[in-house]
Amino acid sequence: MKNYLVIGNPIEHSLSPKLHNFWIKKNKIDAIYSKQKLNDSEIGSLILKIKKKLIDGVNVTIPFKQKVIPFLDILSLEAESTQSVNTIYLENNKLVGHNTDIDGFSLSVKKIDFEVTNKEALILGAGGVTPSIIYALNKMNVSKITVTNRTREKAENLKKLFKNLDIIEWGSVTNFDIIINTTSVGLNTKDEIQLELPKEIKNKLFFDVIYNPQETNFLKKGKELGNKTENGKNMFIHQASAAFKIWHGVQPEINNDVMRLLD
Ligand code: ATR
Repeated sequence: MKNYLVIGNPIEHSLSPKLHNFWIKKNKIDAIYSKQKLNDSEIGSLILKIKKKLIDGVNVTIPFKQKVIPFLDILSLEAESTQSVNTIYLENNKLVGHNTDIDGFSLSVKKIDFEVTNKEALILGAGGVTPSIIYALNKMNVSKITVTNRTREKAENLKKLFKNLDIIEWGSVTNFDIIINTTSVGLNTKDEIQLELPKEIKNKLFFDVIYNPQETNFLKKGKELGNKTENGKNMFIHQASAAFKIWHGVQPEINNDVMRLLD
């Protein structure tokens, strides 16, 4: 039986095992997917298990997406460009790190049919998933990307990876067509992002990487003002499906059962 897992800290709330095990069963694959909470000092020994073929693949979540990199042999272009790995596998005896969050985001935006090309993007936050979203937006040919983060220095640091960023003070807002919350503000239903939004904004896209709760106050506000909204559920499902394809060679089906699984 093949053995897969997601590592992170905290990890209790990860829905990756539920999703992957559903697809594993559906596709009659002899495998199991579990979760493991790690400390920084345990990353090396865990990754060694992939090399020894005791583990067949690993998903990586907060706070390890960057920390796993020194233990890998090869990074895909996407992982290298974002310095962020969420999927690890062994190929020709080399440990490969890849980033499927990028495709996860792009596919979820494509799905809602919102044209991003030549549009302006404003990103809230500069955490683990932010580089993936910037990379995806660049690939989708947005005209401008602005980042605002509570800790400004972390937003400034993103300029080392991406040359074309504008950084503005936390809470202030520039012109945008798509605004994306990549912060953890909203995970608690009462959380509110203090944003100086103009009164008249319509027909924009408000995207939140959070999917539990389904509708954060940020999305509620966007909707109230007459904008399109999308939470992070499809992004999460698509990043998982891309990892599944890499490991098992099968594109898993995303249907209503899958959507309901995560409610
Ligand atoms: P990490 O920073 O370890 O990658 P993350 O969950 O990916 O963790 O990122 C958390 C993001 O949410 C960061 O952008 C963080 O802002 P800081 O860089 O200033 O910490 C943001 N964040 C978390 N709590 C916040 C709050 N109460 N107000 C504003 N931003 C917050």
